[in-house]
Amino acid sequence: MRVLVIGSGGREHALCRSLRLDPAVSEVHCAPGNAGIAEDATLHPVVPTDGAAVTSLALRLGVDLVVVGPEAPLVAGVADALRAAGVACFGPSGQAAAIEGSKAFAKDVMTAAGVPTARAYTCVTEEEAAAALDAFGPPYVVKDDGLAAGKGVVVTDARDEALDHARACERVVIEEYLDGPEVSLFALCDGETAVALQPAQDFKRAYDGDKGPNTGGMGAYTPLPWAPEGLTEQVMARIVRPTMAELNRRGMPYVGVLYAGLALTADGPRVIEFNARFGDPETQVVLDRLETPLAGLLLACATGGLAGHPPLRWREGAAVTVVVAAENYPADPVKGDPIAGLPVEVEGAYVLHAGTALDDNRVVSSGGRVLDVVGTGADVAEARARAYEAVGQITLRGSHHRTDIALAASAP
Ligand code: AMP
Ligand code: GLY
Repeated sequence: MRVLVIGSGGREHALCRSLRLDPAVSEVHCAPGNAGIAEDATLHPVVPTDGAAVTSLALRLGVDLVVVGPEAPLVAGVADALRAAGVACFGPSGQAAAIEGSKAFAKDVMTAAGVPTARAYTCVTEEEAAAALDAFGPPYVVKDDGLAAGKGVVVTDARDEALDHARACERVVIEEYLDGPEVSLFALCDGETAVALQPAQDFKRAYDGDKGPNTGGMGAYTPLPWAPEGLTEQVMARIVRPTMAELNRRGMPYVGVLYAGLALTADGPRVIEFNARFGDPETQVVLDRLETPLAGLLLACATGGLAGHPPLRWREGAAVTVVVAAENYPADPVKGDPIAGLPVEVEGAYVLHAGTALDDNRVVSSGGRVLDVVGTGADVAEARARAYEAVGQITLRGSHHRTDIALAASAP
C-alpha cells in the first residue's frame, strides 16, 4: 500500500513512522514534511491547504490513501477535493471539520445531540461579552470562534484580561469553567462506526505547574493509570456516537479522527473542545502504543469498512513525550538554530521532529515546537525517566521544555 501524509509537524512524523513500520505499506510519502520525517518518508513540496495541488500530487504518486494531518487543510476542504477525484482520504469534509473550525458550530451540534459540555454564549459585541462574563463569573473562559492553533483561548480570573481578549476577536464563545483533569480521546470514524484509541493527557500551558500561556501542547503520556474505569465506553456512548449521529442527520458524515478534549468533572466527562484531527503531541504517544498496523485501520475509516476491522491491539507499558520548544515559544519563536545531540542514545527513547528543517545538511529549528522526545517503558515512570534522559542529550540554544510532564501520573 502507498500512503501520502499531509502536514509537517510532530503528529505527521508519528504517523509516517507508524506507517513506515507497517508491513503492508510499501511507500510512505509526506508533503511538505520536515527534516526528521525525511528519514521515514519521501518528501514532496506542497501547500497543504491547496486541495487541487494535494490531489494532483496524490494522483501522480498513485497512492491508495491520503491522511490529512492538520486542521487547516481539512477546514479548507482538501478531503473533499481528494474524494471528488476518487482518492481515499482519512479526514473529514470541510463541512464536518467545522466541528473544530467553528466553536459556535461545535456548540450547536453538541446541544442538538445532547452531548455534555460547558454552557456557553456566542458574543459579537463588547456588551454581550461583558454580560456573558458576569453571568458565569471567574475563572473566565473566552474562546476565539475561529481556528487559532490552540492559542485562541484565554482562561483567567482577571475580568479585564478576559474582556480584552473578547474585544480582540470578531466573534467569541464565552463559557462556563469546567473543573477537573483533562483527557484527550481520539475516535476513529468511518461515517457510521467509531473506534476509540487509548486516552492520553496533554499539557497545554507553557511552563511547569500549568503556568504561563496556552500552547499547542508541551508534552503528553498514555495510558492514564488514574482514569476511571469505563471512561472510554462512557465517552463513546454519551459523546462520540451522538455527535456522529447528529452530523449524519445534518448530511455531514464524519470520516477521520474525532478528537474529544474532555474535562472529567464531578458530573462526569464534558467536552471542552472537539478537533477534526489527531492531537499533537498526544498522537506521538498513542501511536507508539498501538500495535494494530496503522495503514489498514485508517484505510478502513476512509472506505467505510471500520465495522469489519478486527479489534485494536495495544502494547503493554507506557509512552511519554516531552516537547522541546524554541526560545520565546509560544509568543514569537526563534528559528534557524542548529540542533545537536541527534539521534539520542537512550534505550526505549527516540525523537520525532515537529519544527525542523535542513540548512546545508544541518538540522535547524524552524518552528515553535521543535522536537518531541518520546520515552517508552514498562510504566509511566520508566517512560518518563527515559524521555527526560534523552532530552538531556539534546542541545538547542535558548530552548525550553517542561520538567513536569507525566510527573503526577508517575507517582507510585
Ligand atoms: P481549547 O483550545 O478549547 O482546547 O482550550 C485550550 C485549553 O483551555 C484547554 O485545554 C483547557 O485547558 C482550557 N479550557 C478551555 N475551555 C475550558 C473550560 N470551559 N473550562 C476550563 N478550561 C478550559
Ligand atoms: N494537543 C492539543 C491539540 O492538538 O489540539
